[in-house]
Amino acid sequence: MADPGSRAGERYATPQILDYAARTHHPEDAGLSRAFDAPARHGMPEIQLGPAEGRFLEILLRLTHATKVVEIGTLAGYSALWMARALPPRGHLWTIESDPGHAEVAAEVVGEAGFGDRVTIIRDKASEVLPELSDSGPFCAVFLDADKGSYDLYGRWATDNLRPGGLLIGDNAYLFGRLLDDTDEAKAMRRFHEEMSSNYRSVCLPTPDGLAVGVRLDPKA
Ligand SMILES: C[S@@+](CC[C@H](N)C(=O)[O-])C[C@H]1O[C@@H](n2cnc3c(N)ncnc32)[C@H](O)[C@@H]1O
Repeated sequence: MADPGSRAGERYATPQILDYAARTHHPEDAGLSRAFDAPARHGMPEIQLGPAEGRFLEILLRLTHATKVVEIGTLAGYSALWMARALPPRGHLWTIESDPGHAEVAAEVVGEAGFGDRVTIIRDKASEVLPELSDSGPFCAVFLDADKGSYDLYGRWATDNLRPGGLLIGDNAYLFGRLLDDTDEAKAMRRFHEEMSSNYRSVCLPTPDGLAVGVRLDPKA
């Protein structure tokens, strides 16, 4: 059921309700807690996903039996750990991080959680490494969570490198409320949405900053 208020964007969650739901559905294990706290511990920006979004990524990858996944924007490895947990033993996650300090912390976090063999942290700008990474595709899922002004390019790359039925997921799809502005960054983000609407069965979920999710259509169908 939805009422006019919720359709217009009204939220019924309180901090207490969010806390109850998180504790009930996905109590965090030690590895995830360490990963979530790592940005604060290391003086990094605390801009990792929320726990419910991390769990949602895990569920999406399990539903699609994903084996090969790409993430752009690692930070300290929190979302990477959620996704790595969804992979079968021979599955793999390539996560790209341009800040060497962030990549260092992520390597420690992922290794300590026991997923070092399933996760490759690529220490470079995404635009530099994506062309070469294509050789490891096609991929089952691509998750975007880095520089928002490049989502159009990353989305295009995903379209070319996802298998039919593969997932494209983009966080901050409302661009912190600036999606409709007349800026290059907002225009790039709108091109990303348009890319999804052309080549995916997609939706932008009304999470606090919008989570765009699309299933790659088969170009031959
Ligand atoms: C929002 S954080 C990622 C959070 C992470 N996905 C999580 O939920 O735990 C964005 C990260 O993208 C990195 N980044 C920004 N621009 C990048 C680029 N062009 N290529 C690769 N990484 C980039 C930043 O250094 C930062 O660590």
